Amino acid sequence: MKCVKVPLRQLNDTRIKLMEAGQMNMEYKIKACEEYGYIPVNDDVEGYEIVCMRLEAMPKVARSFSELLEGELDSDEIENLRTSFDTIGDIVILEIPENLEDKKQIIGDAALKFTKRKAIYMKRSAIKGTTRVRDLEFLAGTDDSVTIHKEHGTRLKLDVREVYFSPRLATERKRVMESVNDGENILDMFCGIGPFPIVIARNKDVKITAVDINESAIKYLNENINLNKLKGSIETYCGDIAEVSKSFNSKFDRIIMNLPGLAYTFLDLAVDLIEDGGIINYYEFSDSYEQGIKRLESACSKKNKQVEIINCRKVKSTSPGEWHVAIDGRVTNK
Ligand SMILES: C[S@@+](CC[C@H](N)C(=O)[O-])C[C@H]1O[C@@H](n2cnc3c(N)ncnc32)[C@H](O)[C@@H]1O
Repeated sequence: MKCVKVPLRQLNDTRIKLMEAGQMNMEYKIKACEEYGYIPVNDDVEGYEIVCMRLEAMPKVARSFSELLEGELDSDEIENLRTSFDTIGDIVILEIPENLEDKKQIIGDAALKFTKRKAIYMKRSAIKGTTRVRDLEFLAGTDDSVTIHKEHGTRLKLDVREVYFSPRLATERKRVMESVNDGENILDMFCGIGPFPIVIARNKDVKITAVDINESAIKYLNENINLNKLKGSIETYCGDIAEVSKSFNSKFDRIIMNLPGLAYTFLDLAVDLIEDGGIINYYEFSDSYEQGIKRLESACSKKNKQVEIINCRKVKSTSPGEWHVAIDGRVTNK
């Protein structure tokens, strides 16, 4: 193997020069001895002493997920898998279609090599039940489902087997956080491990009441409050919002309702708990905004209130033709 021989003190500068000039042979490792360093090169390099040395080869790293699965899956199958990746901290969750079930181990191993994360799990069910958690099957790496996810400067600790969390809502959380004013008194009715409260309280001086029926979610939210430097404060409650809310003795400037399949059944309660002029950040699964707007209007009119729709957005696609939609409404007394 041809190498450039340089005194050790020049090793780093020479390495950078050769790399930038495309003259370094990247398939072999640099060797440093007592006085000299040896940099593998493709050819003679003018101005340098060239010697022949045996150097250790670099470990072969696959360039891409496709390369790792070449010969096993076709390019459409690989692309579909790649878009199904959800990375939560150092864990990757994959959706493997039924027709590739017999290749799940090869896919899991490839995902582990490609992502270099701690663990790969595959989805085994839809998100289900009151706590909105899905079954997962461990595929590769270390079977440890607790991780810390970083989002907008916050650290969110969670167990992917025990609680709901979607990294795909990060943009929505930032958008809501940016619309919050210092001083707001906020209720998150279905807070999970607290991504909305933590992202908001890290950036705004607010008071947040966070409720979830899942004990594990509240356990992690309590840890997350200590893991992050917050400007605002968060008070946590574990239980059904319909019950917990009976102990509240003030109303709220903002209520966050991210339980998209069932939030509409709690709209009457939210309308009771909102301050005059307060904002409801309402979510549901739908193919349009009309249904959600009608539900907000009807809940308000029952209580002699009215709602001004400030904003509607499609947060993410959930199935063909159906969206996780967000509707922001300002509620005022008539
Ligand atoms: C879709 S998750 C959203 C969690 C969190 N807001 C987030 O964005 O990650 C809905 C959460 O509502 C909780 N939940 C369901 N029914 C509830 C109820 N009646 N009262 C309080 N929490 C409830 C579930 O445990 C779950 O954590």
